[in-house]
Amino acid sequence: MSADLAKLNAAEAALQFVKDGMVVGLGTGSTAAHFVRLLGERVRQGLRVTGVPTSEATRLLAEQAGVPLIDIARVSAIDVDVDGADEVDPAFRLIKGGGAALLREKIVAAASGEMVVIADSSKWVETLGAFPLPVEAVRFGFALTLERVREAMAAAGCAGADAVLRVQGKGADPVVTDGGNYIIDAHCKAIPDPEALADGLKRIVGVVEHGLFIGMSRTLVLGKAVGAEVKRL
Ligand code: A5P
Repeated sequence: MSADLAKLNAAEAALQFVKDGMVVGLGTGSTAAHFVRLLGERVRQGLRVTGVPTSEATRLLAEQAGVPLIDIARVSAIDVDVDGADEVDPAFRLIKGGGAALLREKIVAAASGEMVVIADSSKWVETLGAFPLPVEAVRFGFALTLERVREAMAAAGCAGADAVLRVQGKGADPVVTDGGNYIIDAHCKAIPDPEALADGLKRIVGVVEHGLFIGMSRTLVLGKAVGAEVKRL
């Protein structure tokens, strides 16, 4: 089965959660991109929605797709947020940020009445951590912050793990987020206690946010070769 077809099917099924008049959080990544394009088609058919993008890439895509946007500064609440994930476990704890948009994604998800996660089945895991956990950190004092992240990983039981600065392609230039920060990829391999790691990372001065989304979503749409399965916590 093509993963992209499954992503498309998940995105299409998520349209059922969008009703006329809603303010909709628009996620980032290839699965969310399918959703944004499909939402644009619905807008052309008469659906009235307003989107809040979670990245500059999604803002551009939504503009091209014809989805009306509103600045998050002018919004008091978001009805539903539809976004992808890098990993999802059976408690619907997520790793996000593979596309370096985790900070805006988390702000939008936290402001939303419901976060609908759309994914192909390769994202479903028993234990989080095979996908490197993205951690957004400010540039000032970065080397110190990286050391503190390594210590937090060890303290949370991520034995033998390492954390590295994310660079662009095969080069040496750091990836810079929409907020002007760096991304640390925490190669945990397995995260035995996601809550403990999340807590440890949030305590580090210099860490802006991390890609563990815990208790933020109760709805998961898993795309299949044909259609999609909606799971609820
Ligand atoms: C973006 O920062 C991420 O959180 C994405 O939502 C995540 O990486 C999923 O991406 P794909 O839909 O491209 O797999």
